[in-house]
Amino acid sequence: MKKTLMIAATAAFMMTGLAATEAVAGGLTNKCKACHKVDKNATGPSFKHIQAAYGDAATLAAVWAGGFAVSDRHIAGNPDNENYKKYHKKAKMMTGQYKKLIHKKVEHGKFTYLELATEVFSK
Ligand code: HEC
Repeated sequence: MKKTLMIAATAAFMMTGLAATEAVAGGLTNKCKACHKVDKNATGPSFKHIQAAYGDAATLAAVWAGGFAVSDRHIAGNPDNENYKKYHKKAKMMTGQYKKLIHKKVEHGKFTYLELATEVFSK
């Protein structure tokens, strides 16, 4: 009986922990909104264009995890992408955001690349 309670308590704690990191990733996409809109290109490409360029959250997460080199980016690093011309020259701006808002936070365990990418794909 006691053991069952312990297991239930542990499960509840783990679920709260998971919800917390998801909330952090969700909050971050709000920061991203300073430069990214859902449907329209702005300072950065729209979330819809990002979704189209990467196809799924796991692919975007993998490019982030791999260091997010400009040549690996599906928009700024791909001359065949319709938004390449517009954003290739702005790649440095996103490199700064990646370091500060994404890479550093993942290193500190705030959330995972996949959680953040999933947020971007849920828009
Ligand atoms: C200060 C403005 C700014 C902020 C804030 C910002 N971005 Fe960007 N982002 C850009 C610009 C400019 C580009 C275009 C250059 C590029 O694609 O590398 C871009 C491009 C991107 C791309 C496409 C990369 C490619 O070329 O394939 C993704 C994905 C992305 N941003 C995600 C995010 C996420 C997630 C956040 C929030 C954590 C964020 N951005 C915050 C300016 C910003």
